[in-house]
Amino acid sequence: PIPQGVVSLGDHEMHAAKRLDANAFAYFSGGAADEITLRANRTAWDGIQLFPRVLRNLVGGHTRTALFGRTLAHPILLAPVAFQRMAHRDGEMATAYAASMQGAGLILSSQASVLLEHVARAVLPERQRGPLWFQLYFQHDRGFTKELVRRAESAGYEALVVTVDASSSGVRDRERRVGFKLPPDVSAVNLAGLPAPKPVMLNEHQSRMFDALLATAPTWKDIEWLRGITRLPVILKGIMHPGDAQLAAQHGADGVIVSNHGGRTLDTVPATATILPRIRAAMGPQFPILADGGIRRGTDVFKAIALGADAVLIGRPYVFGLANAGAMGVSHVVRLLRDELEIAMALCGCATLADINADALFS
Ligand code: FNR
Repeated sequence: PIPQGVVSLGDHEMHAAKRLDANAFAYFSGGAADEITLRANRTAWDGIQLFPRVLRNLVGGHTRTALFGRTLAHPILLAPVAFQRMAHRDGEMATAYAASMQGAGLILSSQASVLLEHVARAVLPERQRGPLWFQLYFQHDRGFTKELVRRAESAGYEALVVTVDASSSGVRDRERRVGFKLPPDVSAVNLAGLPAPKPVMLNEHQSRMFDALLATAPTWKDIEWLRGITRLPVILKGIMHPGDAQLAAQHGADGVIVSNHGGRTLDTVPATATILPRIRAAMGPQFPILADGGIRRGTDVFKAIALGADAVLIGRPYVFGLANAGAMGVSHVVRLLRDELEIAMALCGCATLADINADALFS
């Protein structure tokens, strides 16, 4: 059951901080380096004020929206988060049940701790749930990467979300302080069988980053390659620069997710709330744009829509719900956020998401 007194996403985090061990909590809650971007993501939403209109007719209002040819009941998706069996023994399976029940889109991480085929079999039939997408990290072995794409396609995933802001993992001080380790029974099961990278012998003049790791990191050419091998929509996640959003479209991407990886990769980049309107301005009104980072209230979802997002993702909050009460906890988190969004819409005088625009923000 949902613990007593947990009535908001913030409450879920506070409760999970007590439930999870220090190792898992550092992993799920931490950000890169000094966590300046982690905090900025939150404070940027908080710093935007709403400018409500009253006495409008809201009869027939709803939160439905269309994305890649599908109707979504509401614009809240669950972001790809790795290793969810560290939060709860049912891990991504519980998350998938909850997403189904709540009509929330689900993006399964490449580093999920449950097989992508098992997750796809656990969800409701397509018409009764939100979209099911697979998050792809390019692996150093392109053959293996292609195989992963094929598996996602045959399992019924409807889009590929290529995360492009994590060619290296960030400087994770919080994890290093607790000596973070994956528990022995949790692993990236979908990447089992990935051939080990060729060992590179580095001399003292070479860099581990540039001469080894980045030698196989994807580039725009690889986005074109991916575009050429799949018919699924390709969405690039981790776009912060308007120039990159334009390059994404030019290289065949069908949408972008404005994201700084929840402040976990590069520290001291701007908040996504700050960047989002620039991306929308660069891409025009039609190009699909999603956003994530620090969304904790229905008013944050509302603000993201007002700044040009078609939909939003939440990461940590639902994992804390998962830690607190399994599928029920994830379900609760989505329901809370959706209810709060509807309240914000009602009190701002917006009957539909299409009614939410920059006029609803005080500037
Ligand atoms: C992530 N994120 C992430 N993104 C991705 O593309 N693949 C992944 O495997 C992961 N793994 C992951 C683990 C953990 C513990 C966190 C917190 C985040 C980033 C995630 O999809 C999303 O961008 C952020 O979590 C959004 O910010 P909030 O909602 O957590 O503030």
